[in-house]
Amino acid sequence: MEKAAIQILVLLLALAVHLTICYSLQESEVQTRGKAKEAEGMCEEVLKGSGYPCMEYTVQTEDGFLLGLQRIPHGLGNKVQPLMNKHKAPVLLQHGVVLGGDIWFLNLPAQSLGFMLADEGFDVWVANVRGTRWSHGHIALTKHEQQKKNTKKEKNYWDWSWDELAMYDLPAMLEFVYKTTGSKVFYVAHSQGTIMGMAAFSQTKVNSMVAAAALLSPITYLDHITSDFIKYAADHYVDWMVKTMGMRQFNLHNELGVELIDWVCMKEDVDCGNFLTALTGPNCCFNNTRIPHYLEFEPHSTSLKNLVHLAQMIRRDTFCKYDYGYLGNLQHYLRLNPPEYDLSLIPATLPMWIAWGGNDALSDPTDVLHMLKKLRTKPAAMVYLPDYAHLDFVLSVHAKEDLYNSMINFFRSHAELY
Ligand SMILES: *[C@@H]1O[C@H](CO)[C@@H](O)[C@H](O)[C@H]1NC(C)=O
Repeated sequence: MEKAAIQILVLLLALAVHLTICYSLQESEVQTRGKAKEAEGMCEEVLKGSGYPCMEYTVQTEDGFLLGLQRIPHGLGNKVQPLMNKHKAPVLLQHGVVLGGDIWFLNLPAQSLGFMLADEGFDVWVANVRGTRWSHGHIALTKHEQQKKNTKKEKNYWDWSWDELAMYDLPAMLEFVYKTTGSKVFYVAHSQGTIMGMAAFSQTKVNSMVAAAALLSPITYLDHITSDFIKYAADHYVDWMVKTMGMRQFNLHNELGVELIDWVCMKEDVDCGNFLTALTGPNCCFNNTRIPHYLEFEPHSTSLKNLVHLAQMIRRDTFCKYDYGYLGNLQHYLRLNPPEYDLSLIPATLPMWIAWGGNDALSDPTDVLHMLKKLRTKPAAMVYLPDYAHLDFVLSVHAKEDLYNSMINFFRSHAELY
């Protein structure tokens, strides 16, 4: 009897020691991870010194990418009444291609949507897609290109396009915000973020978590793009880069990006005198003296495959999955052509606010109207700004009066839905 009791006691002790070791290991692992994250996170590098609270989270996608998500739970002063009676409404901000979540905070606080929403009583969450500076982790793959050729089994970190951003990144981040806050989420997107949104909404997987969507410079069809630079690159260069270099990172800071710019700008019919204008259209309300500040964080990296996918949209009049060619499509989709995203499947009950610009070289008004025709219902609110080009929607110094006040009113009018 006594012997059995001692045996049990020893067992329990061993178990306790084991658990303690495991627990402290786990804890220290979490701590070091948290620290590493903090040292290079967006809160630390972009919002520090602003006075606004900022929290870092890491979200894992179904395919193993580790995304940085930031939260600004309230604005300055801390005294602003919550928007709704019980608690604050969460808003998720989704940036565009080669941009990152910092884009919502790069102007003065009274001009930047991220700060403004926090001051207006929203619970602000900032999305960052895979490959950007704030979302570079993966449970198994590494971002840095290996010198040796990838073996067949080794999946490449850069082997994705916006299909994956819509299928994995957006649902993972939305679900995290939805579960953490316990309420439906207002979705705000710019440019590629609107592609992700429309693709995801048409597949209904995320719709139960979204209260309403605000789309800035919406993109689904891209065949009327007027940016000479991008048209030229899409027609002549992007596919060739992938064919010769494989699945790789596209970084405007490195030699590949510089080469692309040189190559396209040397063509006589492409005027790169003002590179930003050539790329995005003549932005009306850009603060030129602030460009050095923008360039501290922007642009971010994306994958070459993503650029190819965008180039495919530019060459055709379709909103489809990535086109692998007949053979590849058979392998991936069991059909010769890539499946189309059906915008008419977006529920008529999802309230939308849409804003687009007359000078936008990427989101051309003709393509926006094409998109509107495909939707089952007209957006609840639409803002058309003739002077605005692509970057004005995130960086205009007049964005508050021109856009964001209207967006915030739209969210307030749908407060009962969240
Ligand atoms: C433009 O940026 C500069 C430098 O950050 C800033 O001092 C100035 O107030 C900004 N101008 C406007 C109109 O926002």
